[in-house]
Amino acid sequence: GQDLLVLGIESSCDETAASVLRYRGEDDVEILSSIIASQDEAHAPFGGVVPEIAARAHMQKIDGIVEQAMDVSGMSYESLSGVAATSGPGLIGGVISGLLAAKGLALALDKPLLAVNHLEGHALSPRLAEPCPFPYLLLLVSGGHTQLLSVNGLGDYTRLGSTVDDAAGEAFDKSAKVMGLGFPGGPNVEKWAAKGDPKSVKLPRPFKGRDHADFSFAGLKTAVARAWEASEQTDKAKADISASFQRAVSDVLAERTGKAMAMFKDMHGEDAKRFVVAGGVAANKALRERLTQLAISNGMSFFAPPLKFCTDNAAMIALAGAAKLAAGQTDELGVKARPRWPL
Ligand code: KG4
Ligand code: ZN
Repeated sequence: GQDLLVLGIESSCDETAASVLRYRGEDDVEILSSIIASQDEAHAPFGGVVPEIAARAHMQKIDGIVEQAMDVSGMSYESLSGVAATSGPGLIGGVISGLLAAKGLALALDKPLLAVNHLEGHALSPRLAEPCPFPYLLLLVSGGHTQLLSVNGLGDYTRLGSTVDDAAGEAFDKSAKVMGLGFPGGPNVEKWAAKGDPKSVKLPRPFKGRDHADFSFAGLKTAVARAWEASEQTDKAKADISASFQRAVSDVLAERTGKAMAMFKDMHGEDAKRFVVAGGVAANKALRERLTQLAISNGMSFFAPPLKFCTDNAAMIALAGAAKLAAGQTDELGVKARPRWPL
């Protein structure tokens, strides 16, 4: 059978990452290295990712991170079957740095180039830990995206729902910023939420009961800002609002996903057996528990990547690249970086 060795590069947001992965089929994947350099400290003073700072940091770090990933894997450049990089969607300066590095290597080594959609990387990420055959229902929740997709096959997606305004991760980040909890918001809100009462602050559940699987988070973010303004702005308020916000987001994601599960069952009948949550927000433990219960009560198996592969990483890009290579879907060296690229 196939035995592919792929180097993956990720640079679409604020992590510079490289990984070497062995691929013997969609249910036989081995991560030989996964190096991630976070830029959190550089962006923290601004409470969000600054594109210009991100692009410069990617350019400075990318060669060293790639070398480190190769070193740790113990493999030689010559033994690679292909070089994969995120080619969109994302902050264009960062995407260009990673894609250029991959093009240079592919050209110098005379190996195929794989231009990977970052969202497809997240979509396939549960397979970094365990087999998860197509089709599956995917809830993709990250800083830039909130979508429900039927993943029918490689590169074959049906969108069942998406956010009409903010992404779920954006709501976490903005709520954290309002309360001064630090950047990135998600993990900080989760920490404060553990000390608070999720029933203490009344927050809306946008689109609840609606007959579609779309999301809206802008109202929730505004309600958090109002609750914070009206509070004593103490540590207790931080904890209670964080807990109530996390509960509201989990309620909304679970309720909307329930609608999508019904649509997914209509599409796939007997084959509608698996549910996957992926993307940075999937690292949230309360949310994972909530969605595990939802899957069980709908007779579906629950899949999620291990915590460290929920947020941006290059192993998922190497995996998507390897899957493309196995399917014969290689790219020209002239392939362009794409700031927008919906699945
Ligand atoms: O997938 P990701 O690393 O980057 C994008 O592709 O956007 O997702 C980052 C997002 C951020 O908004 C961050 O606050 C959120 O994921 N996040 C979390 C947690 N860890 C990261 N949200 C909630 N709980 C967490 N533990
Ligand atoms: Zn991402």
